[in-house]
Amino acid sequence: MLTRRHLIAGLACGAALPIGIRSARAAAPFKQPPLPYAEDALAPTISGRTVNLHYGKHHASYFKTLNELVPGTRYADMTLEEVVKASRSSEADRKIFNNAGQAWNHIFYWEQFKPGGAKAPAGALKEAIERDFGSVDEFKTKMVAAAGGVFGSGWAWLSEDGGKLVLSGTPGGDSPFAGGKKTLLGVDVWEHAYYIDYENRRTEHVKAVLDNIVNWDVVAERMA
Ligand SMILES: [Fe+2]
Repeated sequence: MLTRRHLIAGLACGAALPIGIRSARAAAPFKQPPLPYAEDALAPTISGRTVNLHYGKHHASYFKTLNELVPGTRYADMTLEEVVKASRSSEADRKIFNNAGQAWNHIFYWEQFKPGGAKAPAGALKEAIERDFGSVDEFKTKMVAAAGGVFGSGWAWLSEDGGKLVLSGTPGGDSPFAGGKKTLLGVDVWEHAYYIDYENRRTEHVKAVLDNIVNWDVVAERMA
């Protein structure tokens, strides 16, 4: 379980990265960080059964595969973040990118739901959302639409580009982070993220996530 002491110690390290991301900075073999809460902590928005499979099987498998792929490659001594960015444009290393990207994306994902914290955007984050989307409700509507527009498996993202907040969708394990953008929030829209709880109702799931389980303090920390 993460504590405030961990948070402060993490911040003292310098980089404005969430805790889980920092804990994954060591080079291969990469270690999946612990889930920062109990498996049923996100219920009923995301059931304990979904988290059990999503974290324990899907996320874990990206680490397992990545650790099988990187020994002996130019990625062996890189941090996870470096592997994601360095492999993104290499067609030959597509499998490494997909698994490293998914390993990183899911750390980022679990971290933003840490129980506690703000239940709605506030302060500078709220102002930036209102500036670039009109209102928090309008932002949520647009993010749900972005998530609905991702064809097949992928992610919907809130990121910052040129001082402006932007929404995007990416396929597979890609992300704005992989492309060098400051990334604030990511919603997994692979079916494994929601099918047990919402069947095919992807947008209903994304709306429930945005309304109920995002820790907006984490998002604000990422923007700061
Ligand atoms: Fe996932």
